[in-house]
Amino acid sequence: MKESRYPPVTTLSAAAHKAVVRDIFGTVHRRYDLMNHLLSFRRDVGWRNAAIRLMRFGPAGRFLDVATGTADLALAAARRYRGISVTGVDMAVRMLRIGMRKVEEAGLSGRIRLVAGDALSLPLTDGSFEVSAIAFGLRNIPDKIGALKEMVRATAPGGQVMVLEMTFDPAPFFRPLYGFYLRKILPRIAALLQPRTGTYHYLGDSIMHFPGPRALAALMREAGLEAVRFHRLTFGTAYLHIGRVPGGTAQHRGGV
Ligand SMILES: C[S@@+](CC[C@H](N)C(=O)[O-])C[C@H]1O[C@@H](n2cnc3c(N)ncnc32)[C@H](O)[C@@H]1O
Repeated sequence: MKESRYPPVTTLSAAAHKAVVRDIFGTVHRRYDLMNHLLSFRRDVGWRNAAIRLMRFGPAGRFLDVATGTADLALAAARRYRGISVTGVDMAVRMLRIGMRKVEEAGLSGRIRLVAGDALSLPLTDGSFEVSAIAFGLRNIPDKIGALKEMVRATAPGGQVMVLEMTFDPAPFFRPLYGFYLRKILPRIAALLQPRTGTYHYLGDSIMHFPGPRALAALMREAGLEAVRFHRLTFGTAYLHIGRVPGGTAQHRGGV
């Protein structure tokens, strides 16, 4: 697909949406980190840290980062919790290669492994992680329930499943400004740095059509999670949702 502008997210079939996402993350990899920090005013770093602070590991200390991309969440979690091991999964091999380089440079190859795979059929054993998270990834996956169910499957009973995502559910005073930013400003800034302007029209479009916090909490419950709660971040431009996988020991259940 060689589009300079992708069709609106709402008009895409699941297969076409996946093809758009493959196309985007097969081409933005080199500038992804820079663009991410720039376009979110570096809030992406603070938002990941907000998720990491609320992670609760048991004795096994195993963390799954779904749609890990260039491994920023995997790296930040491994730096904060020195006893954990991390598995990052992503379908974009070029994003993973950059992630692998960052992991090596950080001297964390012994604790972080990155594998190619689809969030809808994770190449991982049932119940093998205490915490699973997806950061800025669920927006790009049409079958959100399917991806959430896979995270539930891979997470141990009593463990946490976290979703960190940019949304369009801002505080009322911020709504017009944020809408203008997503529609008009963000694609223009992006165009200065990234020749594929369609990529950042897609970004704004996909944020504006992502389920609001209550709707996402309902999807998480439908996927089998309990005690789902959410935290509003930066005036509601992003949300962190946390749910618990049913069952587990008392020690584990402190987690959510
Ligand atoms: C916006 S990036 C987020 C990367 C990273 N989690 C972060 O915090 O910056 C979205 C990532 O989701 C990945 N992705 C999208 N759909 C996927 C799927 N079905 N399975 C695995 N990865 C997927 C893309 O390849 C891309 O690397």
